[in-house]
Amino acid sequence: MTPLNSVLLTTTLLLSSALALPNPSPGCANPKPPNTFDPSGPTTPLTISVPSAGGLRTYLLSLPPHTSPSPSPSPLILAFHGKDQTATQFSTQTQLTDPAFRLENSIVAFPQGIHEQWLGDPTSPPRGDRDDIAFARALLAELVEQWCIDLNRVYLVGFSNGGGLTHLLACDPEISEQVAAAAIVSGAFYKDHSLKGSKPLFGVCGKRDAALPMLEMHGSADPVIHYDGKSTPDGETYPVEEWLGEWRKRNGCEGAQSELKGDIRDGSVQKTEWWCGKGKEGAKDVVVHYYIRGFGHGWPSTRSQEDDGQRYGPVAWNATSDIVRFLAAKSLGGEDEGGEGEAGARDEL
Ligand SMILES: *[C@@H]1O[C@H](CO)[C@@H](O)[C@H](O)[C@H]1NC(C)=O
Repeated sequence: MTPLNSVLLTTTLLLSSALALPNPSPGCANPKPPNTFDPSGPTTPLTISVPSAGGLRTYLLSLPPHTSPSPSPSPLILAFHGKDQTATQFSTQTQLTDPAFRLENSIVAFPQGIHEQWLGDPTSPPRGDRDDIAFARALLAELVEQWCIDLNRVYLVGFSNGGGLTHLLACDPEISEQVAAAAIVSGAFYKDHSLKGSKPLFGVCGKRDAALPMLEMHGSADPVIHYDGKSTPDGETYPVEEWLGEWRKRNGCEGAQSELKGDIRDGSVQKTEWWCGKGKEGAKDVVVHYYIRGFGHGWPSTRSQEDDGQRYGPVAWNATSDIVRFLAAKSLGGEDEGGEGEAGARDEL
Protein backbone atom coordinates (compact mmCIF):
# COMPACT_ATOMS: atom_id res chain seq x y z
CA MET A 1 0.00 0.00 0.00
CA THR A 2 1.10 3.58 -0.39
CA PRO A 3 2.44 5.37 2.68
CA LEU A 4 -0.62 7.63 2.66
CA ASN A 5 -3.03 4.73 2.81
CA SER A 6 -0.95 3.20 5.49
CA VAL A 7 -1.33 6.32 7.62
CA LEU A 8 -5.06 6.45 7.00
CA LEU A 9 -5.56 2.84 7.94
CA THR A 10 -3.58 3.29 11.12
CA THR A 11 -5.72 6.29 12.02
CA THR A 12 -8.83 4.19 11.47
CA LEU A 13 -7.70 1.63 13.91
CA LEU A 14 -6.87 4.11 16.62
CA LEU A 15 -10.39 5.50 16.63
CA SER A 16 -12.76 3.67 18.85
CA SER A 17 -16.15 4.12 20.40
CA ALA A 18 -18.01 2.14 22.97
CA LEU A 19 -20.28 -0.71 22.07
CA ALA A 20 -23.86 -0.28 23.19
CA LEU A 21 -24.69 -1.64 26.63
CA PRO A 22 -25.93 -5.23 26.54
CA ASN A 23 -29.62 -5.69 25.85
CA PRO A 24 -30.38 -8.97 27.63
CA SER A 25 -32.71 -11.37 25.84
CA PRO A 26 -35.69 -12.97 27.62
CA GLY A 27 -33.52 -16.06 28.12
CA CYS A 28 -31.38 -14.13 30.62
CA ALA A 29 -34.27 -14.02 33.10
CA ASN A 30 -34.83 -17.73 32.89
CA PRO A 31 -31.47 -19.34 32.24
CA LYS A 32 -31.21 -23.01 31.56
CA PRO A 33 -29.16 -25.04 33.97
CA PRO A 34 -25.58 -24.86 32.72
CA ASN A 35 -25.40 -28.63 32.50
CA THR A 36 -28.22 -28.85 29.95
CA PHE A 37 -25.54 -30.19 27.72
CA ASP A 38 -21.81 -30.23 27.84
CA PRO A 39 -20.85 -26.74 26.73
CA SER A 40 -17.22 -27.70 26.45
CA GLY A 41 -18.14 -30.24 23.79
CA PRO A 42 -17.64 -29.03 20.24
CA THR A 43 -21.27 -28.50 19.35
CA THR A 44 -24.53 -30.19 20.21
CA PRO A 45 -27.19 -31.11 17.60
CA LEU A 46 -30.65 -29.70 18.35
CA THR A 47 -33.92 -29.52 16.46
CA ILE A 48 -36.70 -27.02 15.94
CA SER A 49 -39.99 -27.52 14.16
CA VAL A 50 -40.70 -24.97 11.42
CA PRO A 51 -43.61 -26.16 9.25
CA SER A 52 -43.05 -23.60 6.47
CA ALA A 53 -39.39 -24.56 6.30
CA GLY A 54 -39.87 -28.26 5.72
CA GLY A 55 -40.78 -29.44 9.23
CA LEU A 56 -38.16 -30.53 11.71
CA ARG A 57 -34.95 -28.58 11.19
CA THR A 58 -31.61 -29.17 12.85
CA TYR A 59 -28.76 -27.00 14.04
CA LEU A 60 -25.62 -27.27 16.11
CA LEU A 61 -25.23 -25.09 19.14
CA SER A 62 -22.07 -24.20 21.00
CA LEU A 63 -22.24 -22.34 24.31
CA PRO A 64 -19.41 -20.26 25.68
CA PRO A 65 -16.93 -22.36 27.65
CA HIS A 66 -17.85 -20.87 31.03
CA THR A 67 -21.62 -20.71 31.06
CA SER A 68 -22.73 -20.00 34.62
CA PRO A 69 -26.14 -20.15 36.29
CA SER A 70 -26.38 -16.36 35.89
CA PRO A 71 -24.58 -15.75 32.63
CA SER A 72 -23.80 -12.35 31.19
CA PRO A 73 -25.55 -11.80 27.85
CA SER A 74 -23.67 -13.50 25.04
CA PRO A 75 -23.16 -12.29 21.51
CA LEU A 76 -24.82 -14.73 19.12
CA ILE A 77 -23.44 -15.84 15.77
CA LEU A 78 -25.63 -17.69 13.27
CA ALA A 79 -23.26 -19.39 10.83
CA PHE A 80 -24.57 -20.76 7.52
CA HIS A 81 -22.59 -23.45 5.68
CA GLY A 82 -22.09 -23.65 1.93
CA LYS A 83 -23.82 -25.98 -0.54
CA ASP A 84 -22.87 -29.67 -0.19
CA GLN A 85 -21.58 -29.01 3.31
CA THR A 86 -22.85 -30.04 6.71
CA ALA A 87 -23.07 -27.76 9.71
CA THR A 88 -20.39 -29.90 11.34
CA GLN A 89 -18.05 -29.42 8.41
CA PHE A 90 -18.66 -25.69 8.52
CA SER A 91 -17.88 -25.53 12.20
CA THR A 92 -14.62 -27.36 11.53
CA GLN A 93 -13.81 -25.22 8.52
CA THR A 94 -14.41 -21.86 10.23
CA GLN A 95 -13.12 -22.80 13.70
CA LEU A 96 -15.63 -20.27 15.04
CA THR A 97 -15.91 -22.18 18.31
CA ASP A 98 -12.19 -22.77 18.64
CA PRO A 99 -10.76 -20.90 21.67
CA ALA A 100 -8.11 -19.41 19.35
CA PHE A 101 -10.77 -17.67 17.26
CA ARG A 102 -13.96 -17.58 19.30
CA LEU A 103 -15.74 -14.26 19.73
CA GLU A 104 -15.53 -13.69 23.47
CA ASN A 105 -18.40 -15.24 25.42
CA SER A 106 -20.27 -16.00 22.18
CA ILE A 107 -22.97 -18.55 21.53
CA VAL A 108 -22.58 -19.97 18.04
CA ALA A 109 -25.32 -21.74 16.10
CA PHE A 110 -24.68 -23.64 12.87
CA PRO A 111 -28.04 -24.27 11.17
CA GLN A 112 -28.25 -27.21 8.79
CA GLY A 113 -29.75 -26.81 5.33
CA ILE A 114 -31.99 -29.56 3.95
CA HIS A 115 -30.02 -31.59 1.38
CA GLU A 116 -27.03 -29.44 2.35
CA GLN A 117 -28.32 -26.37 0.55
CA TRP A 118 -30.23 -23.16 1.17
CA LEU A 119 -32.82 -20.96 -0.43
CA GLY A 120 -31.08 -18.86 -3.07
CA ASP A 121 -29.29 -21.69 -4.83
CA PRO A 122 -30.56 -22.27 -8.40
CA THR A 123 -31.48 -25.86 -7.49
CA SER A 124 -33.21 -25.16 -4.17
CA PRO A 125 -37.02 -25.31 -4.02
CA PRO A 126 -38.96 -22.03 -4.06
CA ARG A 127 -39.45 -20.12 -0.83
CA GLY A 128 -43.11 -21.17 -0.75
CA ASP A 129 -42.06 -24.81 -0.51
CA ARG A 130 -39.14 -24.52 1.89
CA ASP A 131 -38.64 -21.17 3.54
CA ASP A 132 -35.14 -20.97 5.02
CA ILE A 133 -35.79 -17.36 6.00
CA ALA A 134 -38.66 -18.61 8.19
CA PHE A 135 -36.26 -21.21 9.63
CA ALA A 136 -33.78 -18.47 10.56
CA ARG A 137 -36.54 -16.30 12.06
CA ALA A 138 -37.85 -19.17 14.16
CA LEU A 139 -34.39 -20.23 15.25
CA LEU A 140 -33.41 -16.71 16.30
CA ALA A 141 -36.67 -16.30 18.21
CA GLU A 142 -36.13 -19.60 20.01
CA LEU A 143 -32.48 -18.98 20.84
CA VAL A 144 -33.14 -15.60 22.44
CA GLU A 145 -35.94 -17.16 24.51
CA GLN A 146 -33.86 -20.10 25.65
CA TRP A 147 -30.42 -18.58 26.16
CA CYS A 148 -29.00 -15.41 27.60
CA ILE A 149 -28.15 -13.41 24.49
CA ASP A 150 -27.23 -9.76 24.02
CA LEU A 151 -29.88 -8.56 21.58
CA ASN A 152 -27.54 -5.77 20.49
CA ARG A 153 -24.99 -8.30 19.30
CA VAL A 154 -26.55 -10.82 16.95
CA TYR A 155 -24.34 -11.55 13.93
CA LEU A 156 -24.63 -13.48 10.70
CA VAL A 157 -21.82 -15.38 8.99
CA GLY A 158 -22.15 -17.34 5.77
CA PHE A 159 -20.15 -19.08 3.07
CA SER A 160 -21.12 -19.36 -0.60
CA ASN A 161 -24.79 -20.51 -0.74
CA GLY A 162 -24.91 -19.79 3.02
CA GLY A 163 -23.48 -16.36 2.22
CA GLY A 164 -26.38 -15.90 -0.19
CA LEU A 165 -28.79 -16.77 2.60
CA THR A 166 -26.94 -14.37 4.90
CA HIS A 167 -27.61 -11.62 2.36
CA LEU A 168 -31.30 -12.59 2.17
CA LEU A 169 -31.54 -12.48 5.97
CA ALA A 170 -29.80 -9.10 6.07
CA CYS A 171 -32.48 -7.95 3.62
CA ASP A 172 -35.40 -9.54 5.48
CA PRO A 173 -37.44 -6.84 7.22
CA GLU A 174 -37.81 -8.93 10.39
CA ILE A 175 -34.29 -10.32 10.76
CA SER A 176 -32.32 -7.31 9.54
CA GLU A 177 -33.65 -5.23 12.44
CA GLN A 178 -32.10 -7.70 14.86
CA VAL A 179 -28.68 -8.03 13.29
CA ALA A 180 -25.64 -5.93 14.27
CA ALA A 181 -23.38 -7.01 11.41
CA ALA A 182 -22.85 -9.72 8.80
CA ALA A 183 -19.79 -11.34 7.23
CA ILE A 184 -19.80 -13.36 4.03
CA VAL A 185 -17.09 -15.39 2.31
CA SER A 186 -17.42 -16.23 -1.41
CA GLY A 187 -21.06 -15.14 -1.37
CA ALA A 188 -23.43 -16.65 -3.96
CA PHE A 189 -25.82 -13.86 -4.94
CA TYR A 190 -27.74 -15.13 -7.94
CA LYS A 191 -29.59 -12.89 -10.33
CA ASP A 192 -33.29 -13.63 -10.26
CA HIS A 193 -33.23 -15.01 -13.83
CA SER A 194 -30.71 -17.68 -12.72
CA LEU A 195 -33.17 -19.05 -10.18
CA LYS A 196 -35.71 -21.60 -11.22
CA GLY A 197 -38.44 -21.28 -8.66
CA SER A 198 -37.75 -18.68 -6.03
CA LYS A 199 -38.18 -15.17 -7.32
CA PRO A 200 -37.66 -12.38 -6.68
CA LEU A 201 -34.94 -13.09 -4.16
CA PHE A 202 -31.71 -11.19 -4.51
CA GLY A 203 -33.47 -8.60 -6.65
CA VAL A 204 -35.24 -7.05 -3.65
CA CYS A 205 -33.82 -5.93 -0.35
CA GLY A 206 -35.57 -4.17 2.51
CA LYS A 207 -34.02 -1.06 3.97
CA ARG A 208 -33.56 -0.34 7.61
CA ASP A 209 -32.86 3.04 9.21
CA ALA A 210 -29.46 2.18 10.61
CA ALA A 211 -26.65 0.87 8.45
CA LEU A 212 -26.07 -2.87 8.58
CA PRO A 213 -22.28 -3.34 8.56
CA MET A 214 -21.28 -5.88 5.94
CA LEU A 215 -17.98 -7.62 5.24
CA GLU A 216 -17.44 -9.70 2.09
CA MET A 217 -14.33 -11.66 1.11
CA HIS A 218 -14.01 -13.04 -2.41
CA GLY A 219 -11.29 -14.76 -4.39
CA SER A 220 -10.41 -13.09 -7.69
CA ALA A 221 -10.18 -16.56 -9.29
CA ASP A 222 -13.31 -18.07 -7.68
CA PRO A 223 -14.37 -20.87 -10.08
CA VAL A 224 -17.77 -21.46 -8.44
CA ILE A 225 -19.07 -17.90 -7.93
CA HIS A 226 -17.13 -15.80 -10.39
CA TYR A 227 -15.96 -12.40 -9.25
CA ASP A 228 -17.49 -10.79 -12.33
CA GLY A 229 -20.73 -12.77 -11.92
CA LYS A 230 -21.36 -13.15 -15.62
CA SER A 231 -19.71 -16.47 -16.27
CA THR A 232 -20.66 -18.21 -13.01
CA PRO A 233 -21.23 -21.87 -14.05
CA ASP A 234 -24.63 -22.40 -12.38
CA GLY A 235 -26.10 -19.10 -13.59
CA GLU A 236 -25.33 -15.40 -13.52
CA THR A 237 -24.61 -13.85 -10.14
CA TYR A 238 -24.23 -10.23 -9.10
CA PRO A 239 -20.72 -9.06 -9.87
CA VAL A 240 -19.06 -8.55 -6.50
CA GLU A 241 -18.40 -4.87 -7.21
CA GLU A 242 -22.05 -4.25 -8.09
CA TRP A 243 -23.16 -6.08 -4.97
CA LEU A 244 -20.82 -3.99 -2.81
CA GLY A 245 -22.20 -0.86 -4.47
CA GLU A 246 -25.74 -1.90 -3.52
CA TRP A 247 -24.72 -2.36 0.10
CA ARG A 248 -23.00 1.02 0.13
CA LYS A 249 -26.20 2.58 -1.17
CA ARG A 250 -28.33 0.73 1.35
CA ASN A 251 -26.02 1.74 4.16
CA GLY A 252 -26.06 5.43 3.31
CA CYS A 253 -22.54 5.48 1.96
CA GLU A 254 -23.24 7.76 -0.95
CA GLY A 255 -22.03 11.33 -0.98
CA ALA A 256 -19.45 12.15 1.65
CA GLN A 257 -18.11 8.66 2.03
CA SER A 258 -14.48 7.87 2.60
CA GLU A 259 -12.93 4.90 1.00
CA LEU A 260 -9.76 3.41 2.41
CA LYS A 261 -7.93 0.96 0.25
CA GLY A 262 -4.72 -0.87 1.02
CA ASP A 263 -2.89 -4.13 0.60
CA ILE A 264 -2.63 -6.47 3.55
CA ARG A 265 -1.36 -10.00 4.07
CA ASP A 266 1.83 -9.47 2.11
CA GLY A 267 -0.12 -8.13 -0.81
CA SER A 268 -2.35 -11.17 -1.18
CA VAL A 269 -5.42 -9.13 -0.23
CA GLN A 270 -6.64 -5.74 -1.26
CA LYS A 271 -8.81 -4.54 1.60
CA THR A 272 -11.29 -1.73 1.06
CA GLU A 273 -13.22 -0.07 3.88
CA TRP A 274 -16.02 2.38 3.34
CA TRP A 275 -16.89 4.78 6.13
CA CYS A 276 -20.45 5.79 5.70
CA GLY A 277 -23.55 7.45 6.87
CA LYS A 278 -23.85 8.77 10.33
CA GLY A 279 -21.71 11.12 12.38
CA LYS A 280 -19.33 13.80 11.23
CA GLU A 281 -16.73 11.46 9.82
CA GLY A 282 -19.16 8.65 9.22
CA ALA A 283 -19.09 5.31 10.94
CA LYS A 284 -15.98 3.35 10.22
CA ASP A 285 -15.82 0.24 8.06
CA VAL A 286 -19.54 -0.04 7.45
CA VAL A 287 -18.87 -1.91 4.22
CA VAL A 288 -15.62 -3.87 3.98
CA HIS A 289 -14.29 -5.97 1.14
CA TYR A 290 -11.35 -8.35 0.82
CA TYR A 291 -10.32 -8.89 -2.79
CA ILE A 292 -8.18 -12.01 -2.45
CA ARG A 293 -5.72 -12.18 -5.32
CA GLY A 294 -5.65 -15.53 -7.10
CA PHE A 295 -7.79 -17.25 -4.47
CA GLY A 296 -10.51 -19.68 -5.49
CA HIS A 297 -13.68 -20.78 -3.71
CA GLY A 298 -13.32 -21.60 -0.04
CA TRP A 299 -12.58 -20.37 3.43
CA PRO A 300 -9.24 -18.61 3.76
CA SER A 301 -7.31 -20.41 6.46
CA THR A 302 -3.78 -21.61 6.98
CA ARG A 303 -5.08 -25.15 7.33
CA SER A 304 -5.33 -27.43 4.37
CA GLN A 305 -9.00 -28.31 3.76
CA GLU A 306 -11.21 -30.76 1.91
CA ASP A 307 -11.97 -28.22 -0.79
CA ASP A 308 -8.36 -27.24 -1.51
CA GLY A 309 -8.95 -28.30 -5.14
CA GLN A 310 -11.19 -25.29 -5.76
CA ARG A 311 -9.75 -23.19 -2.94
CA TYR A 312 -6.38 -23.31 -4.65
CA GLY A 313 -4.48 -24.47 -1.64
CA PRO A 314 -3.96 -23.20 1.85
CA VAL A 315 -3.36 -19.51 2.41
CA ALA A 316 -1.14 -17.68 4.86
CA TRP A 317 -3.88 -16.14 6.99
CA ASN A 318 -7.19 -16.99 8.67
CA ALA A 319 -10.43 -15.35 7.57
CA THR A 320 -12.07 -16.21 10.89
CA SER A 321 -9.83 -13.97 12.97
CA ASP A 322 -10.56 -10.98 10.70
CA ILE A 323 -14.28 -11.75 10.67
CA VAL A 324 -14.47 -12.06 14.44
CA ARG A 325 -12.58 -8.80 14.88
CA PHE A 326 -14.99 -7.05 12.47
CA LEU A 327 -18.08 -8.41 14.24
CA ALA A 328 -16.72 -7.73 17.72
CA ALA A 329 -16.67 -4.00 17.02
CA LYS A 330 -20.32 -3.80 15.94
CA SER A 331 -23.47 -3.50 18.01
CA LEU A 332 -26.99 -2.27 17.52
CA GLY A 333 -27.85 0.93 19.32
CA GLY A 334 -24.25 2.10 19.72
CA GLU A 335 -23.24 5.72 19.14
CA ASP A 336 -22.01 4.60 15.78
CA GLU A 337 -21.21 1.30 14.24
CA GLY A 338 -17.58 1.56 15.24
CA GLY A 339 -16.09 -0.06 18.27
CA GLU A 340 -13.16 -1.25 20.23
CA GLY A 341 -11.25 -4.45 19.95
CA GLU A 342 -9.14 -3.37 17.01
CA ALA A 343 -5.83 -3.15 18.82
CA GLY A 344 -4.63 -6.47 17.48
CA ALA A 345 -5.30 -5.39 13.91
CA ARG A 346 -2.56 -2.81 13.65
CA ASP A 347 0.31 -5.18 13.09
CA GLU A 348 -1.56 -6.82 10.24
CA LEU A 349 -1.91 -3.69 8.15
C1 LIG B 1 -4.14 -19.39 11.68
O1 LIG B 1 -4.75 -20.30 12.56
C2 LIG B 1 -3.91 -21.35 13.01
C3 LIG B 1 -4.76 -22.26 13.87
O2 LIG B 1 -5.62 -23.00 13.05
C4 LIG B 1 -2.74 -20.79 13.78
O3 LIG B 1 -1.88 -21.81 14.16
C5 LIG B 1 -2.02 -19.79 12.89
O4 LIG B 1 -1.00 -19.17 13.64
C6 LIG B 1 -2.95 -18.74 12.36
N1 LIG B 1 -2.23 -17.92 11.41
C7 LIG B 1 -2.29 -16.59 11.40
C8 LIG B 1 -1.47 -15.90 10.37
O5 LIG B 1 -2.98 -15.95 12.17
